[in-house]
Amino acid sequence: KIGKIRAMEILDSRGNPTVEVNLKLENGTTARAMVPSGASTGEREATELRDGDKNRFGGKGVLKAVANVNTILAKELEGKCFSSQRELDYRMIELDGTHNKAKLGANALLGVSMAYARAQAASAAMPLYQYLGGSNAYLLPVPCMNIINGGKHADNNVDFQEFMIAPHGAPTFAESIRMGVEVFHTLKSVLKGKGYSTGVGDEGGFAPDLKSNDEAVEVILEAITKAGYKPGDEVSICLDPASSEMWEDGKYKMFKSTGKLVSSDDMVKLWESWTDQYPIVLLEDGLAENDWEGWKNLTQAIGGKIEIVGDDLFCTNKAILAKGIEKQVANSILIKLNQIGTVTETLETIELAYKNSYNCFVSHRSGETIDSFIADLTVGINAGHLKTGSGCRGERIEKFNQLMRIENELGSAAKFAGKKAFKNA
Ligand code: PGA
Ligand code: ZN
Repeated sequence: KIGKIRAMEILDSRGNPTVEVNLKLENGTTARAMVPSGASTGEREATELRDGDKNRFGGKGVLKAVANVNTILAKELEGKCFSSQRELDYRMIELDGTHNKAKLGANALLGVSMAYARAQAASAAMPLYQYLGGSNAYLLPVPCMNIINGGKHADNNVDFQEFMIAPHGAPTFAESIRMGVEVFHTLKSVLKGKGYSTGVGDEGGFAPDLKSNDEAVEVILEAITKAGYKPGDEVSICLDPASSEMWEDGKYKMFKSTGKLVSSDDMVKLWESWTDQYPIVLLEDGLAENDWEGWKNLTQAIGGKIEIVGDDLFCTNKAILAKGIEKQVANSILIKLNQIGTVTETLETIELAYKNSYNCFVSHRSGETIDSFIADLTVGINAGHLKTGSGCRGERIEKFNQLMRIENELGSAAKFAGKKAFKNA
């Protein structure tokens, strides 16, 4: 039975307001959840309710979402008993009444949903990953670490948003993180040696001005080798160009470097040549969310070779994923709880993906908090890989630390996913 629900406005890692929910069960168990926030958001994401009052945080306040929790949701949920996470989440969806959580806000609903999950798990003396995924949760993910930031996440001249390393050639998660961090530190000295900036972007990756987008991959490969690892065998590359941000009048605009316009066909050719040339195992949002024709071509061209992930394309939305499955677009889906707004709907989308042999790639947002819910979710669903930052910034590192705790706790039952976590690897 839910005793008390209280929300408040806190700050995320960019210093923007976000929602925190504190929930108490009648048996005394308490839990807290904090909601993340994206910058390169998909058009079809559930509504993140912001106040729009320019006198507070430039309009970004979340007092309305907070009030919706403290009045409407608290009034309807406090003192009530729910038989499952699903029952609670669907009751909140009903109270919102819109198709995209525009009335109460996905940030309001998700805060309650996550806090309730955590409280229920604690109440049953069960780890959160087990509450979310059952007793079969055992797989520790390959951490895809975003060590060069560009696009909307950094003020440099790199068009593509994320250049990640996947240190898959390790025996354990903890060893994998060690390898990744060693490459991160080596990259810092490689960049310094070339006279480049070593300041970091929103997700903790370096954000230098470079001669080209290709150079981002080249310096990372140099860092992998200099750190003592074999590119491809031990450490591979993953990319999220976040192409929806470049989409303009049916073309892709290299908006931060040359300003050049590139056709959808030429983008597919670019990814084909990059995947031939470099040890890339995963490409997320290689094309824009409204370029479904292009996505079909891209999937045909390289979908048999690497993992093709839809982020803005699917928005963790079951109905949109179903369309993708039908049209044979992508072979993996990015999972972000706040794109859809409840734990239950997130798990339903994951179930649909798995049923159709799509992979699930769990993700943080560029605006994060120290809440490590996604670490438990990743193990809970045996996702095998996640992206949650680079080798620095506490709000990202906390997820890695939580995964190391889980690995420790599982002991000999834990298994590290390794390279085969990636589709076609
Ligand atoms: P976002 O970026 O959180 O700013 O949307 C992450 C992503 O595009 O994967
Ligand atoms: Zn993305």
